[in-house]
Formats: sequence, structure tokens, C-alpha cells
Amino acid sequence: MTLKTDLLETSFALICDRETDFTNYFYSNLFKDYPEVKPLFSDAQMDEQAKKLFDSLVLVVNNLTKPDTLTSALKGLGAKHVQYGVLPEHYPKVGGNLLKTMAVVLEDQWTDEYAVAWTEAYSAITEIMLDGCNYPPEVLNLET
Ligand code: HEM
Repeated sequence: MTLKTDLLETSFALICDRETDFTNYFYSNLFKDYPEVKPLFSDAQMDEQAKKLFDSLVLVVNNLTKPDTLTSALKGLGAKHVQYGVLPEHYPKVGGNLLKTMAVVLEDQWTDEYAVAWTEAYSAITEIMLDGCNYPPEVLNLET
């Protein structure tokens, strides 16, 4: 799939102006909407975690035109997530939360076009991260 590079870059530039709002809302809303994922973060230092998450989004957006770099970084990140206890079924939750956070933080600057671009991008990111994981087929059912 060809990602909508221009839309991803333009919207992310707006989000970079509001990094703290973004990460604060991202984690508080994740734990509100999906309390079941909170225990996964029990050992995490949340300030650092927020910075790492944001930096990984920067990496994604900066490497949209370099699929090899992007793929190897995301496969490695996916493999680490297995060790954190993350399951495939958690990815759509985090993706929904990501889109919601972007919409809330950008308010009237958020558009339907941005939403489509990020939905496609997150789905591609998930596919690559899970590709780095070797989960058995029975846990790879993302419909649930
Ligand atoms: C686009 C998808 C995702 C991205 C870009 C992302 C990004 C990151 C990054 C950069 C780290 C830090 C890795 C390190 O320390 O080297 C991390 C850690 C972590 N992520 Fe994600 N993540 C994603 C999806 C998820 C999902 C779906 C979950 C499940 C709820 C999750 C839960 C965690 C947990 C539990 C940690 C470890 C926290 C700790 O104990 O330090 N992530 N993630």
C-alpha cells in the first residue's frame, strides 16, 4: 500500500507543536478506554515511555519514503513488544486511541483525510510490527 506521505507529514507537524498534550491525552485516555492494558505498563517509567512513543512516531514519519529503514526498525519494535506482554489483539485498541488522541489534540485542524491517512499508516505499522513477532497463527486474529 502507498502511504499518504503528504497528509501524514502535514498532520504530524501540527502534532509536534503539541507533543505534551498529545502524550498526556494518549496515555490517560488509553487507560480510561482500555483499562485492561494498564497492567502491561506497571514497570514503565511513564515520562520516559511517552517520550519513546513520540520518538517512534517521529521515526515513522521521517522514514515514510525509506521502506527498508522503516521495516527493520518496526520489526525490531514488534519483537520487543512480545517481551512486554503485548498481544496482537492490543494493536487495534492502541490504534483507535492514537486516532482519537490526534483528533482531540488537533481539534478543528483535524480532517477526515488525516484520519484516513493515519488509519492506513497504523494498519501498515501493525502489520510490520507483528511480522517481526512470530506469534502462532491462532493469536493473530485481529477481528476480536
Ligand atoms: C504503532 C504501534 C506502537 C508503537 C509505535 C509503540 C512504541 C513503543 C516504544 C518506542 C516503546 C519503547 C521501547 C523501548 O524501550 O525500546 C514501547 C514500549 C511499550 N509499549 Fe508500545 N508501541 C506500539 C504499540 C503498542 C501496543 C499495541 C501496546 C499494548 C498495549 C504497547 C505497549 C507497550 C508496553 C507495555 C511497553 C513497555 C513499557 C515498559 O515497561 O517500559 N505498545 N512502545
